[in-house]
Amino acid sequence: MAPGAADVWSPAQYERFRAEREQPFWDLLRLLDVAPNGRVVDLGCGTGMLTRELHRAVRARETVGVDSSDSMLARAAEIDEDGLQFVKGDIGRWSPDGACDVVFSNAALQWLDDHPRLFKRLRGFLAPNGVLAVQVPSNYDHESHTVAAEVALEEPFASATGGYTRESTVLQPEAYAELLYALGLRDLHVRLQVYCHELSSTPDVVEWVRGTLLTDYQPRMPEAMFDEYVTRYRQRLLDTLGDQRPYLFAFKRILMRARAAP
Ligand SMILES: C[S@@+](CC[C@H](N)C(=O)[O-])C[C@H]1O[C@@H](n2cnc3c(N)ncnc32)[C@H](O)[C@@H]1O
Repeated sequence: MAPGAADVWSPAQYERFRAEREQPFWDLLRLLDVAPNGRVVDLGCGTGMLTRELHRAVRARETVGVDSSDSMLARAAEIDEDGLQFVKGDIGRWSPDGACDVVFSNAALQWLDDHPRLFKRLRGFLAPNGVLAVQVPSNYDHESHTVAAEVALEEPFASATGGYTRESTVLQPEAYAELLYALGLRDLHVRLQVYCHELSSTPDVVEWVRGTLLTDYQPRMPEAMFDEYVTRYRQRLLDTLGDQRPYLFAFKRILMRARAAP
């Protein structure tokens, strides 16, 4: 979230599909193989609940969760755990005050642009043998996203947003592999995984993206217009996908792990 921008993240909305959203976190965690007692950062930590799981799983000495959303951090502030703290910061600018054994980010870096530059920064956070572990969604070509962009280009929304549509900043999996390698990292694991989320119906997709993608459109238009935008989006999505009950939300994500030299 840009500094000064409205905080549209809602922990309650985001957690509506908590079990589904947690699956890639656990998969990413399984890719970590690190010694205990390390220093860990979790970039875009959200409510901090999964940061606590990360902190416990790797038996970290110290874990810092970083997020730019006050509402998400308010939830994180309720967590009281030795060695775990949360700070407000923009991932694009924030830096740890020492080298990290684990730089972790689950479902957050897709909000930042210029990934080659970003990953170069993150690589600079790593201690010798330190591990970078990242998961980003890779589903901008799914109807949930393409329809959101198409509706945003209709009136009156286009005039309100200046014709804005959310474009993907996420690279292809092989480009991440090459990037991580070029940054001197090894022990590479990069994979594209399709998560098969069975939702009760197609309109559930609307509720899903309200907690994520649509937070980017929401602050760009007046409140009443955003309600109209969501109504039209729901209708267009139903027209495109049909009213399927249940609906298989096939969701592509990229998981990656890379290690710094000893
Ligand atoms: C989809 S949530 C993921 C939260 C958590 N990692 C999880 O797995 O549940 C994305 C989080 O990234 C945060 N975020 C987005 N852009 C950010 C930025 N530039 N700097 C810091 N946090 C950011 C949002 O506030 C949000 O809490």
